Amino acid sequence: MRKKIIAGNWKMNKSFDECMALVSELSNMIKDEYHGSAEVVIIPPSLYINSVSRMLADFNNISSGAQNCSNHASGAYTGEISAAMIKSCGGKYIIIGHSERRQYFGETNDWLAKKIDAVLAENLNPIYCVGETLEERESNSHFDVLTKQVSEGLFHLNAEQMAAVVIAYEPVWAIGTGKTASTAQAQEVHAFIRNLVKEKYSNEVADNLTIQYGGSVKAENAVELFSAPDIDGALVGGAALQSRSFADIIKAMA
Ligand code: 13P
Repeated sequence: MRKKIIAGNWKMNKSFDECMALVSELSNMIKDEYHGSAEVVIIPPSLYINSVSRMLADFNNISSGAQNCSNHASGAYTGEISAAMIKSCGGKYIIIGHSERRQYFGETNDWLAKKIDAVLAENLNPIYCVGETLEERESNSHFDVLTKQVSEGLFHLNAEQMAAVVIAYEPVWAIGTGKTASTAQAQEVHAFIRNLVKEKYSNEVADNLTIQYGGSVKAENAVELFSAPDIDGALVGGAALQSRSFADIIKAMA
């Protein structure tokens, strides 16, 4: 049975005090209200990972992670943060290739492949984001775009390395827009991605791959999204910034 993972990507939001308050509220809600099997991942700005992971030390179903890391292991790269540093602060997952990084910081599939290697070298789990723009969907080129993103970012890995990877399908047109992909649209893409992985690796690797959906996930649409056979969780932005709305999304996963 593949793992279900609900992750909250806070992006560049919250002060340190706000961060601590939100983690405290959320972890209490999860302890009291959540009886399902999903792993919850809190992904704050990297500055806060150390404090967040310490607060979560007693929760075996909640972990923390980072929104990005360097493709280098260490050295003279001013302003960068390595996977090893994130690990040393208790982070377990690292988002790689979020569309905002691709769009605003020029990250390419080749570059992201190196970041994936940097994450795996530390035995952490990358959450590799893929997704098409509205223009690409409307011109019906989304399957080509997704194939390129998945194959160029990941297919240099061996099967054992691939087993540590989580993929997040985040259509760019659904991020922060309030416009969620329909369950049928998301399921179609998730099944397509799983099939790419099956063709490259094996049935087993594909069956065990966690594929999250991201893009305007809310408590109101989570139950339906999670009912689809190939949707194994969510990568949540805006709705993860409040404890109640994020806890309600988590509770939508059995
Ligand atoms: P929203 O949930 O705010 O649309 O953001 C999704 C996202 O980008 C998560 O990484």
